[in-house]
Order: sequence, then C-alpha cells, then structure tokens
Amino acid sequence: MKYGYFDDAQREYVITRPDTPLPWINYLGCEEYFGLISNTAGGYSFYKDARLRRLTRYRYNNAPLDMGGRYLYLRDNGTGKYWSPSWMPTRGKLDEYECRHGQGYTIITSKLNGIRSSTKYFVPLGESLEIWQVTLTNEGEADVDLSLFSAVEFCLWDANDDTTNFQRNYSIGQVEIVDEVIYHKTEYRERRDHFAYFACSERLAGFDTIREEFLGTYRGWNEPAVVEEGESCNSVAHGWQPIGSHHVKVSLKPGEQKVISFILGYQENPKDDKFDPPGSQVINKKSAKKALEKYLQPINANKAFYELREYWTMLLGKLQVTTPDAHTDRMVNIWNAYQCMVTFNMSRSASYFESGIGRGMGFRDSNQDLLGFVHMIPERARERILDIAATQLKNGGAFHQYQPLTKRGNNDVGSGFNDDPAWLVLGVAAYVKESGDWSILDVPVQYENEPGTETPLYEHLQRSILYTLDRLGPNNLPLIGRADWNDCLNLNCFSDTPGQSFQTTTNKDGQVAESVFIAGLFVLACQEMAGITRKLKEERGDSFVIPLSSDDYLKFATDMEATVWAAGWDGEWFRRAYDDFGHVLGSKENTEGQIFIEPQGICIMAGLGLENGNAVKALDSVGERLATPHGIVLQQPAFSQYYLHLGEISSYPPGYKENAGVFCHTNPWIMIAESIVGRGDKAFDYYTRINPSAREEISELHKCEPYVYAQMIAGKDAPTHGEAKNSWLSGTAAWNYVAITQHILGIRPAFDGLEVKPVMPSRWNGFEATRSFRGVHYEISVRREGPGNEVSLEVDGTPVQGTVIPLPKEEINTVKVKAVIR
Ligand code: BGC
Ligand code: NOJ
Repeated sequence: MKYGYFDDAQREYVITRPDTPLPWINYLGCEEYFGLISNTAGGYSFYKDARLRRLTRYRYNNAPLDMGGRYLYLRDNGTGKYWSPSWMPTRGKLDEYECRHGQGYTIITSKLNGIRSSTKYFVPLGESLEIWQVTLTNEGEADVDLSLFSAVEFCLWDANDDTTNFQRNYSIGQVEIVDEVIYHKTEYRERRDHFAYFACSERLAGFDTIREEFLGTYRGWNEPAVVEEGESCNSVAHGWQPIGSHHVKVSLKPGEQKVISFILGYQENPKDDKFDPPGSQVINKKSAKKALEKYLQPINANKAFYELREYWTMLLGKLQVTTPDAHTDRMVNIWNAYQCMVTFNMSRSASYFESGIGRGMGFRDSNQDLLGFVHMIPERARERILDIAATQLKNGGAFHQYQPLTKRGNNDVGSGFNDDPAWLVLGVAAYVKESGDWSILDVPVQYENEPGTETPLYEHLQRSILYTLDRLGPNNLPLIGRADWNDCLNLNCFSDTPGQSFQTTTNKDGQVAESVFIAGLFVLACQEMAGITRKLKEERGDSFVIPLSSDDYLKFATDMEATVWAAGWDGEWFRRAYDDFGHVLGSKENTEGQIFIEPQGICIMAGLGLENGNAVKALDSVGERLATPHGIVLQQPAFSQYYLHLGEISSYPPGYKENAGVFCHTNPWIMIAESIVGRGDKAFDYYTRINPSAREEISELHKCEPYVYAQMIAGKDAPTHGEAKNSWLSGTAAWNYVAITQHILGIRPAFDGLEVKPVMPSRWNGFEATRSFRGVHYEISVRREGPGNEVSLEVDGTPVQGTVIPLPKEEINTVKVKAVIR
C-alpha cells in the first residue's frame, strides 16, 4: 500500500494522506540553520547544533506521535469551526490533503469547506531563518471571515537541559513583543548573545506567548482555547513555557487569495552591542529587522525559493542518469544524493530516531558519509576531512566522536574503536580521486586539536595504517579494541551491569580479541595508501621523502591477506572475529553467529578471493544464508540470548539491529562485491531489495519514508520482518550511492581520471549518464552488445585503452564517452 507517489519531474515525494505509518520527514536548511519537518508540520529547528542551540521544542517518544511543530490553525469565524491545515495537531477530517517534500523545502496543502491553504516552508540560502509562506484561497461560493493562528513552542536553547532542569527553567523564560514580532530572549540577559524571533507579515489581531493561556490549562495542541474562542489573550510570558502565536484576521471573497508569511529566525549580536539602548535590557533588533524587511516581502521570499531550487539543481546535476529502472533513476538523481547531503549536514545528530542531544560527529561515520557527497561539495568535503583529521590521536588512533560546535574530540566516548583510523584513509582517497586536489595531503593538521602538533595530512594517513600494525593479536589479525565497524560487537566489554554503555565499558585488556573485518578494511586502506604514495612519488620525485614506499604499503596488504587466509577463512566464507578467549566467531564451529555479512563485503572489496574463487564462494554463502526478500541480514543464526563475551550485539532481540537485522549499511558492500566478481544481476537484485522507492508499494510494512534509506529493516528472525527503522541518518545513504553509481553503473573517480566500468544487470541494454568531474562535463552513453562485462571505451570518437578516461586538455570542458559492454 502506498501513501503517496514520486513526482520525479518536480523532484518531490507527494504524500497524499496525512496518517502515514510514521511521520515522514524532511529537512529544511543546508548551511547553519536547520529544521526537521514532518508531513503534518511536526518537527523543530535549531542553529548549527541540535542540542545546544535548539529554537523550538519537540517531544520525542510521545503520544500522539509527532508532538511539537510549526503549527497553524484556521478558524471560520462565521461557524466557529477550526482546523489544522496540516492535519496535526487537530486531526480533523480534511477534504483534500497533500504534502510535497522537496530538497530543503516542504509544501503542505489542504482544503476544507472551500478554503484551500498551502504552506511552503523553507530556509533561504545564506540565512538563519525559515519562511512559512501561507497562501489562502477561498474556493467556496460565499465570503468567509477567517482567523489564522500560528504557534511554535520555544525551547530554552539547550535541548537536553530543557527536558530535564525544570526547577530552573520554569523561571527563566523571557520574551519581547514589538510590532508584529515575538522575540524569544531566554538567558539573553546573561551569557547568551543570541535570540529567536517569530514574525508575521500582517497586522495582528492579537498574539500569545504564554503556553497555558493559549492552550488553556490541561488542554492540548489539538484544541487551543484561544483558537476555539477566536480571540488571543495578548499574553506576555514570564518563566514557564514561552511560545509564539500570532492571530491574523482574513476576509476572503469567493475566488480571492491572500499570501501571509511567517518567519522564524535566529540572530546573534556582538557582545558589546546586545542591548538597545545600551545599558537597557532590551534586545538590539537591528539585524533581525533587516532580514524581516526583506523576507516578509513575497517577492524576495519567492526569489529565495527559486535560488534554493537552483542550488539543488546544481548539486544534483553533478550526476544524472537515465537507466531502464525508474527506482534507480530517482534514487540516484534525487533522493539518495539528497540523503547523502543530509548526512553531511546532520551526521547522526537529529532525525526522528536521533534526538539531537546524543551523538556528535562520528569519526568513521563522517569519513564514510563523505563518499556520498564528495562529488557535490568537494570544497566542504575538504574542510570536513581536515576537521576530522585534527581530532586524530598522536598514536594514529581516533576520538570516536567530535562535537560539531567545538570541533573537538569527545572525551566521554573516547577512543579505541580500532577500525576508526582506516576510514580516514578511505575518505581522503575518495576526496583526492574526485577533486584531483593533491595539495590537501600537505596541509598541516593538528593531532587531538593541540596547537604545535601539526604534521601534513599525509602523515596522519601513515599513522592510521601503522596504528593497525601496532595492534595485532595472537593470530596476527588486528585487535578489535572497543568495537570495529559493528559498534555492538563488544568483545572486550563483558558488562553485566544494566545500563552500562556497551561501547565505553571495557573489562578486558584487549590483547586477544581480533577482527577479520578490520583486516579486510586494512588491506583496502593499504591499497589506497599505496596508490596515493605512488602518485605523489611520480609527481614529486626525490623531493618527496617518506619513510614508507608504495611497495611497503602493498606488502602490508599482502601480509595481512595471508593472515586472513590463515586465520580468517572458514572454508565457505570469511570469519568475523576471535573473542577474548581466542575462540572464533562467524564460523561453522559456532552455533549462533556462524556467518556475518561484514567480512564478506569488505574482504572482497579489498580484492581477497578473486583469484582463488573464494570470493564467489563467500558470496554464494551470503546468498544462501543471509539474503532475504527484504535485504541481507547481518548474521545468522541470530543470537538467542545475551552473551557476556559478545556484548551489545546479543542484547537485541533476534532480527533487530545488529543482531541479524537487515543492517542496510552493509548491503551495498555485498552489491559492490558482486559487481567485482562480475555478477551484475545479483548486485542489482540486492540493490533493489532495499531500494526505498522499490519498497514504496509495501509502505504499510516498511513504515519509514519511501524516499530515503533506513538504517535497519527487521530481519527474518523478527516478528516484524520487513519493517524499517532509523531512517535518514545512516551510512546506508553513502554506501548505496557508491554501490549503484560507482560499481553497478560503474562511473567512478580514479586518481588518473574518471573510470567507466559498469557491471549492469544482464537485461539492461545500456544507460545514459552525465557526470561533472574536475570541472569537465562528461556525457556518457553505455550500450550492451554482449552478455559479459568487458568494456570498450571511445572518448570523443577515439578508442582508448582500459576503462579510465584520460583527463582532457585544459580548454576542453565537455567530453563524450561511449562505452560498449560485451
Ligand atoms: C546501535 C549502533 C550504534 C551505537 C552507537 C548502538 O546502540 O545499535 O547501531 O552504532 O549504538 O553508539
Ligand atoms: C551506527 C553507527 O553510527 C556506525 O558507526 C556503526 O558502524 C553502525 N551503527 C554499526 O554498528
């Protein structure tokens, strides 16, 4: 069952009924000011940091679902009837309803009793404010006399404190109301130099800033007393819960239309210019007023909206494809790329599954996210890499997380996730391949954000590699530390205390438990490092003095490979790990957890088993034991009980999350591996199983948004097999994007140019693509002339050897590529 449809021409998903199985959300903003917005106008806004600068309040985990948002109420003053044009929070029946989620904007339209209301929510580029542009149309036969009420509930800035520290917070709320603008200034009198404002384009019939006056004591957002009465109280908040509500009266003749704008914004003032007049306690509103003057004019707001659309056309335009499959096209051209950008902006901080007060930026997560957005925003990817690298430890290890506001490593979570450093190598390699910007490797970067510790970024990479070599276990495999990619495989944790963090509790000294996954990742990282080093040496010759050569890195890789064959191969698949007792995990010797997906994917991506046939063997085992119609589960058999020596993985009921859920992040590794062994049909089949667009028809089961990936789909051991959770903020976005674009479609950046090497499904005759790469526009056309994967390339009419398109001469900015597949 579907709850909407894709409007690919508009690049929108159109939700046609409000009661989706879960709130289906979108994001506003793409720079510093952000909002989450659901299909019924739920959500909240923040500036830069979802925890520390939260503008509006949201109630997670509440009933009814999705409480708190950008609410509007319409009241027919003739009959006294009122409703929410976004359905929530009044939830009355609407004659028509539609929500259009686009890139950085959402438009919610509905109609009741002849009154059409359409609200466009977006954040103009370069601004720290959001516009709600409401268009009201009287499509009925008679004159109407309407009241329009707005409502937001302010959060007292630190979202964590806001939900816990009531003894203080009930006394600190402050507002100012001047002209048609409500200013939220809690704590502005002391150390905060920022305030929020909520403005309306119209003369007000009234306003409210005291929540309980607006709602009425013991009443909810579904039936505010003020809306019921049709009169605001003009209440001025002192403490308690400050809100912002405007009341506008609108009379509309049949056919008449009116546009009303609301603006919610964030403003900072210089410390010495906070108050106006100086010495008073009144906010200096000059800068806010300037923004309001501009954007309350529809002509400027419309221009800003147009610019936002253009911006996204430009970003998404970096790669556009036309394939025989509509699900592929819309995910690659629109939604998957968009989701990658959202992971760039949000990391794992704020979604409807991440509260915005928890995790900062993950070291491994951010490096992997980069793979999905580097081609759209290479300059910002560069900055991100330098930020991440500056949190690296001197010993090559990494702070597992850092805070976006301070860009400093997070001490609470600390380090010791032994896969972390290797991802930096992959992230940097991806950046350099995309941009050709070798200079990044020379940038002096601190360790642990300590001034004076700078070395060139290149040395950070070297330390990343050595970090693994310095930490080998009894089988010469890398020690796992707190966890590797699988945060829930906590082999040194041994926690028997409820509530303890599995990831930071360590009861073992960590000298025994090893990870085959890190071994595979290490081989891959060494290959990238060898590639980077070889290129630098070629270009810089003897002036490039380094202790380890490209051959050294390749030797590290082949040695580790040998170790994997000796201790990490189980006969039919790659093993997963060795635990603290030195017992194998992910082997037929185990009764539960016999086979895991991660090492199959990563080891084959690193090229293991391509020559001796073991890669195919491992992939066949994945197909037989792990694949389900809803995607490939993480391991089998699921853990039926909690195992002290395995940690969080066995804490989940079977079929959920890391305990044998379809952990979507890992599925693309298998798609890539299948492409590497040349099995395009299998790769594409796996791709389609978890492609959200392809799952749209089963939305009642899938539950999450059909336009973005979720972290997890419940596995076959779960009673709710096929149900998705944790949509939006997941490495799933980047890796699926990489799998489909770089491996199945085969368009991938390489150090020496753009490579075209598709491994397509056999039934595809070909596809077209445009890709902008290092300032050149590539028009690529792929045609199948035979059943295999052999590629012959013709570039601007001339055949070229191999699969990499040589970089064109400087003056050429368009290149036509023909690829024939036989
Ligand atoms: C989740 C993991 C996640 C970790 C982060 C765990 O509860 O299952 O997916 O990586 O938390 O801290
Ligand atoms: C989500 C985390 O953000 C990521 O770092 C981790 O690799 C996966 N969960 C798997 O545990």
